[in-house]
Amino acid sequence: MSVYAVPKLEDYSPEALDCAVAELLAALNNETDALRSESDWKTFRDRWLARKNGILTQVNDTWLKAAPGPAKREVGRRVNDLKTRAETAIEDAHGKIRGASADARLAAEHLDISLPGIQRPIGVKHPVLRVMDEIVAVFKAMGYSIGEGPEVETDYYNFESLNFPPNHPARDTQDTLFIAGQERKPPRDRLLLRTHTSPVQIRTMEKQPPPLRIVIPGKVHRNDPLDATHSPVFHQVEGLAVDRNITFCDLKGTLDHAMKALFGAEVKTRFYPSFFPFTEPSADMQVSCIFCSGKGCRKCKFSGWIELLGCGMVDPNVFEFVKQNGYDSLKISGFAFGMGVERIAMLKYEVEGIQLFYEGDVRFLEQFA
Ligand code: PHE
Repeated sequence: MSVYAVPKLEDYSPEALDCAVAELLAALNNETDALRSESDWKTFRDRWLARKNGILTQVNDTWLKAAPGPAKREVGRRVNDLKTRAETAIEDAHGKIRGASADARLAAEHLDISLPGIQRPIGVKHPVLRVMDEIVAVFKAMGYSIGEGPEVETDYYNFESLNFPPNHPARDTQDTLFIAGQERKPPRDRLLLRTHTSPVQIRTMEKQPPPLRIVIPGKVHRNDPLDATHSPVFHQVEGLAVDRNITFCDLKGTLDHAMKALFGAEVKTRFYPSFFPFTEPSADMQVSCIFCSGKGCRKCKFSGWIELLGCGMVDPNVFEFVKQNGYDSLKISGFAFGMGVERIAMLKYEVEGIQLFYEGDVRFLEQFA
């Protein structure tokens, strides 16, 4: 924007005055056309109207005050006229600027209510939880109720009452994570992160006399390094049935039905001798390979079978700990089982690495939506 000077008057003739006024008004109009913003306008207004050294003040000083007496009237009339016109033009220019910015704001705020809305995808259950719920539902349908217990457990519930003797090597197979700084407590009260859901067997039997049918879903912890099939935090579903005359046949029939419900009616089960301190006899249950239907493939290491869970008849030594609540091993018997949820989820959905469940990568998770 050019900064122009107030034209000098050669003389005070009406022609010279008209000419000078016209020159100023032309400059003013030129400038109003170039205004783009409120701050442009303010600079412009100040240049024209500032008391000190504004163009109109200069006009007053160099034209009117300097005019010889006889010309004063004529000069004064034109200066006043110029002032009014300049002021009006400056006000008009402001209106235009304000209108333009309001138009721009309205244009920016424009909302097309005929457009479709933004759809926020609704989350779905995590695959591990989904499988856990599915397993639980299979047992609920057989009349089982649901039990829960703490993840921070005492040595007593996690080991001692489950017939793990102190310092027994079976404890080593559980790779326990202990809570630090508890050396002053008696061993059975020391806290640890439960290594399995089996402590909830005892907790439930302490509260409820037999008969009992219960499934226990939950999170467990082991000091296992993460690899394709192990995670230090994982999930189990435990089961416990206690009544008169519960036999190994009941265990087999129940688990066989559950596996068929989870993997399809063609699946077969078999039971292999195993050891757990809290069951006697103990077994590992295997299912016929769901990938090759038992013919043998890489997934089942060409055996046709996949090991899926631990189970057995409740050891009478375990009932001893809850004997006062009606668990007399001469009158009742029971079976228990425990399965890893991630392992079942990996089989069901052919997931290659357990870590995929914990990384939170939506590209993996959205497949379950
Ligand atoms: N608690 C055992 C484990 O985590 C599984 C199990 C549960 C075995 C119940 C027998 C009976 O390995």
